[in-house]
Amino acid sequence: MSLLELDGVKVHFPIKKGVLVDRTVGHVYAVDGVSLKVEAGETYGLVGESGCGKTTLGRSVLRLVDITEGSVVLDGTDLAKLPGEEMRRFRRRLQMVFQDPLGSLNPRQNIESILSEGMIAHGIGKDQEERREKIKAILDKVGLPSNALARYPHEFSGGQRQRIGIARALVLEPDVIICDEPVSALDVSVQAQVINLLEELQKELGLTYLVIAHDLAVVRHISDTIGVMYLGSLVEEAPSDALYAEPKHPYTKALMSAVPVPDPEVEDKRERILLTGDLPSPANPPSGCRFHTRCPWAQAERCATERPQLRDIGGGHRVACHYAEDIASGKLSLTKGEVVSATREGVEDNPEPDDPETGTSAEDTPAKIPAQAEKTAKDEKPAEASEEPEKAV
Ligand SMILES: Nc1ncnc2c1ncn2[C@@H]1O[C@H](COP(=O)(O)OP(=O)(O)OP(=O)(O)O)[C@@H](O)[C@H]1O
Ligand code: SF4
Ligand SMILES: [Mg+2]
Repeated sequence: MSLLELDGVKVHFPIKKGVLVDRTVGHVYAVDGVSLKVEAGETYGLVGESGCGKTTLGRSVLRLVDITEGSVVLDGTDLAKLPGEEMRRFRRRLQMVFQDPLGSLNPRQNIESILSEGMIAHGIGKDQEERREKIKAILDKVGLPSNALARYPHEFSGGQRQRIGIARALVLEPDVIICDEPVSALDVSVQAQVINLLEELQKELGLTYLVIAHDLAVVRHISDTIGVMYLGSLVEEAPSDALYAEPKHPYTKALMSAVPVPDPEVEDKRERILLTGDLPSPANPPSGCRFHTRCPWAQAERCATERPQLRDIGGGHRVACHYAEDIASGKLSLTKGEVVSATREGVEDNPEPDDPETGTSAEDTPAKIPAQAEKTAKDEKPAEASEEPEKAV
């Protein structure tokens, strides 16, 4: 059995209306039947467009949102069925690292106080002296000086604050850490340092990660398995190398086709699949295959009426597409959309994001991959030079 197993997880948020009495007039199908397994000591990367339900899925594992249906089994225990008090105890074993390190750290508490809080709540350390020693050791592991203890979050750079967020999770000795967009608020060079740190900590402490990101480059190096989400469901899942070598689902193909390749010869030949249509609302998802309104290979009737299940098509891929084999063999040709040379004049491969907060653009293909990230993630050492706090340490 895997350390963490999700089976048919659904999270539907009711849409309420009414002046005096709230009426439920519909639902946001944020997560709509996700099953996945995270093996101990490994990393599962979850990618997908903004609004596809990644954060909601992460929060459902911690029961921070109500699970409408399905099970979340950690080490043999179904968390979805646990009463509140027992769930509180289990929560120590599941920790979350958030996208916005500053927003998730109380500005009025110093680092010792922030890191002690969870330890006290879970009865870790017999007194503050013992807790302080443990916090110092963890700060050292995440590359922060022990005199950080008395300082406040605003005195640190973005990368350092994310290290504090990671330390806050680590002091509780969790089994699984859910990292929700752990580096998307950071500069590209600092992103690589934080990803490297997560990898080093995993090796040293045997941690298990669920890493959520909208950026394929972020999850590529760190993940053993990658799951691609579209409108609340997984559309493809494969070992990281297999997914990047040969994506099978039309949506994954479109995402991957937007990723620039460092090799200039390959890059010159790269073709980009341009999708048509906007991302539908999760409150009113399309019938049948949820991707059929934008899928370049969509077939009449079946795609619009029958919802494809995630099925094993070999080579380590699980794909939710009726026609995955025919698309891979070239038997089916495009019915809509366009395949263009990625380097053709006028095609912008890395458009500026429309929404600077989420980094997402209105373009149909959401993978805005910083070209340098791949290089820096491997080449850069976790030097602190670019992460000096505003005040001297
Ligand atoms: N508490 C809530 N009540 C109602 N709708 C919600 C709630 N939380 C999330 N949603 C909706 O559920 C959908 C999925 O949201 P979620 O935040 O999980 O997406 P995401 O994939 O994490 O997006 P992003 O990449 O922008 O972080 C969105 O349409 C969102 O508006
Ligand atoms: S099932 Fe049909 S619409 Fe859905 S991804 Fe496959 S070909 Fe496209
Ligand atoms: Mg999110």
